[in-house]
Amino acid sequence: MINVAVLGYGTVGSGVVEVIEENKETVNKKSAAELNVKYILDLRDFPGDPYEDKVIHDFNIILNDPEVSIVCETMGGVGAAYKFTKECLLAGKSVCTSNKELVAKHGPELLQIAKDKQCNYLFEASVGGGIPVIRPINYSLTAEEIENITGILNGTTNYMLTKMDALGADFDEVLKEAQANGYAEADPTADIEGYDARRKIAILSSLMMTKNVDSEKVYTEGITKITSADFEYAKAAGFKIKLLGTSEKLSDSEVAVMVAPFFIDLEHPLAMVNDVFNAVFVKGNMLGDSMYYGRGAGKLPTASAVVSDVIDCARHLGKTVMCFWDAEDVKLADVKELEREFFVRIDSAAKEDFEELFEDFEEIIADRKEDAGYFLPPTKERDVYEKLEKLGDTVLNVIRIYR
Ligand code: HSE
Repeated sequence: MINVAVLGYGTVGSGVVEVIEENKETVNKKSAAELNVKYILDLRDFPGDPYEDKVIHDFNIILNDPEVSIVCETMGGVGAAYKFTKECLLAGKSVCTSNKELVAKHGPELLQIAKDKQCNYLFEASVGGGIPVIRPINYSLTAEEIENITGILNGTTNYMLTKMDALGADFDEVLKEAQANGYAEADPTADIEGYDARRKIAILSSLMMTKNVDSEKVYTEGITKITSADFEYAKAAGFKIKLLGTSEKLSDSEVAVMVAPFFIDLEHPLAMVNDVFNAVFVKGNMLGDSMYYGRGAGKLPTASAVVSDVIDCARHLGKTVMCFWDAEDVKLADVKELEREFFVRIDSAAKEDFEELFEDFEEIIADRKEDAGYFLPPTKERDVYEKLEKLGDTVLNVIRIYR
């Protein structure tokens, strides 16, 4: 029997217990041992809960119990979760987590401790919720030079953009609806400003580069400036608007990473990812393109990914599963120096000035009088923004194009 402890009995933690119990037969078969949830750590009591007798409030009981070999950290945050994870790993207990904030911030350090102590720190659920994406990168694509990873990594914003597109609604209206339906948090900042997606693309980029991508240095734009007018132009031109995390390997020591809303061609597989779904598009030099799609959030999908890590730990007790993510920071390219195509929306009054300023452009014909939309060919970001500065407030929005 292998004893497991769950730290944090919230949405994901209770899902972990549910998956282990509900799928007991298959989970035990695939672990080649019986998994037993011995403790659930939480500050609260859960009277009437079927597992209330397992709930404890003192972390040291778990830390000092030699029978516990696998711990699920489903608390979130980088305070107690960091301390407890580190102490568990130092004690030789494997830790499985859905905590992208902690993985993005302390991943290399925690992986190194796991290696030193011959246990594991696994984090499949930290990116893309229930979608297998960390394991494919670590196990399945090991013969590949991964060149590029692009993902729709945040379910809340994908839901909002899908609704804005379908209903012609504006950002504030859709945000209120998403909050009322429980799709967006009361404080939606981390989602709508792109910080959640930034942590996830930083984790994926670190695995691609096998060195650390500092998530806080990743250029990030959220979706708050996207309006129904932008969607009208996108539709007229045969595009969708998606919040993407993109990461392109420029060399062994430099990577271009960013989170921003993009115009994306309707024909691209990522353009077809709607509602709360997530997808990660990975390009390898031998395989070419591959895509991983599914539920990027939610209790049971996320818990299923955590339990898949628990099974992996059970199969590898006393042995560390390889994960290449060195502590050394990799160089992040200055996004302003990169060339790409742009969509620009300007006040109609500035049409003449815009067309004089840019020699090469394509006007998008939409049924709108108050503004005009243009595509610019591949141009260095810095040059585009320097020119647009001359148009001042008549520039209404600038959105990058992903192909
Ligand atoms: N807030 C996140 C999302 C939850 O909307 O995708 C999963 O990380």
